[in-house]
Amino acid sequence: MDKYVIHGGTALHGEVEISGAKNAAVAIIPAALLVEGVCRIENIPQISDTDMLLTILAELGARVSYINRTTIEIDCTDARYQDAPYDLMRKIRASYYLIGSMLGRFGSAKTTMPGGCNFGVRPIDQHIKGMTALGADVSVKNGFVYADALGGRLHGARIYLDKVSVGATMNIMIAAVLASGRTIIENAAREPHIVDLANFLNSMGADVRGAGTDTIKVNGVEKLHGGSYSIIPDQIEAGTYMVAAAATGGEVLVKNVIPKHLECISAKLRETGTIVQEYEDSVLVKGASNLRRVNVKTMPYPGFPTDMQPQMGALLCLANGTSVITEGIYDNRFKYVNELRKMGAEIQVDGRIAIIEGGRRLTGAPVMACDLRAGAAMVIAGMCAAGETQVEDIHFIERGYENFVGKLRALGADISLVSFPDEAETGSDKIIAFG
Ligand code: EPU
Repeated sequence: MDKYVIHGGTALHGEVEISGAKNAAVAIIPAALLVEGVCRIENIPQISDTDMLLTILAELGARVSYINRTTIEIDCTDARYQDAPYDLMRKIRASYYLIGSMLGRFGSAKTTMPGGCNFGVRPIDQHIKGMTALGADVSVKNGFVYADALGGRLHGARIYLDKVSVGATMNIMIAAVLASGRTIIENAAREPHIVDLANFLNSMGADVRGAGTDTIKVNGVEKLHGGSYSIIPDQIEAGTYMVAAAATGGEVLVKNVIPKHLECISAKLRETGTIVQEYEDSVLVKGASNLRRVNVKTMPYPGFPTDMQPQMGALLCLANGTSVITEGIYDNRFKYVNELRKMGAEIQVDGRIAIIEGGRRLTGAPVMACDLRAGAAMVIAGMCAAGETQVEDIHFIERGYENFVGKLRALGADISLVSFPDEAETGSDKIIAFG
């Protein structure tokens, strides 16, 4: 079993380069299925989620080749309809984008439901509502999603999302690109990766307008052509290093970022007394000796991202006073609190609210990464704690953070990836889905 072993107490110092955005890449890779031609995609993050999606595309007949560590070429000219591979699909939440891209390309899709979730019920009813409005007959049976475009091709439609959903917004955009006529998505999500997906699609010949606002218009086209595209930097990876610098009281230049995407995180960090200086494509974070308490509420972009909530939770254990975190997106994203308690944190949770009594000295302990961001929070807590912390279930972390250990070590953290002899492994039933 692989674990991260961390000896806390070292402030992070130096520079870290941020990789391409996971949640953009996991939509852009499936969207490449719409393109008959070569898509050259730069700034692909080296994480297991993107590896899995590339394998799924290859199984559908795509030619995938690495040009260098972060640049790939995907050629889906010879892709053909078949059931998407079940074992890979169920492991990754973003596999739901195959519903949109297979429907758009082939007029049919059969995929697995994105598997069990780590933070409460995560339905895909808004995805289904969108595909149905576009003219697909969609049914869910025995864990599979079956979708068929009536007449073989989707048509444009006006779709109002009942919930602001990143996944549904992007999935409908993907499906609508090759549909006949115009699609209008209202109450659309506005995250940076939504704009990135639209830019990718447009650079391959699509006509998507309004991404980044709550109304997106997609004028369907007959065909997409090959092209080149570079994925934006990862907002959440950058935010994680920013919080890590603040929590350890260090000084870190976070490079290759779009500071505008980080404003919600920078503003909260400044409230804690942390200094955040913005430059053109980097931010400098200087930790304060005395962190102040803050309240945080997670919201859709441009609000504070739910994917930064656990990392902020770890930081607020160290801040003086009582902080309140309100989770505005998911029903159950506080599982990591039990792990922080093992390290001496004092946190009460009531539904979607966590009350953190800060100013505690954390002590190292064996803890679990309950999911990707919870795992990142454990690593941050471990770097601030006295003594040794061992973080288990790190496969979750490696789904979304490229070279996490290497980047943190380069900043001076005492963290290592250590293989321990297998205990009673429970195997694949532990991994359900993520993203
Ligand atoms: N929702 C519905 N019905 C739907 C879709 C969503 O009720 O059809 C609800 C969800 O249950 C949730 C809320 O709407 O309460 C928002 O969910 P959303 O659809 O926006 O989330 P997602 O597409 O499933 C993506 C990211 C998550 C990130 C959220 C919110 C991917 C693969 N995943 O999930 O990323 O938390 O958006 O920003 O893009 C992560 O990277 O750690 C991660 C979990």
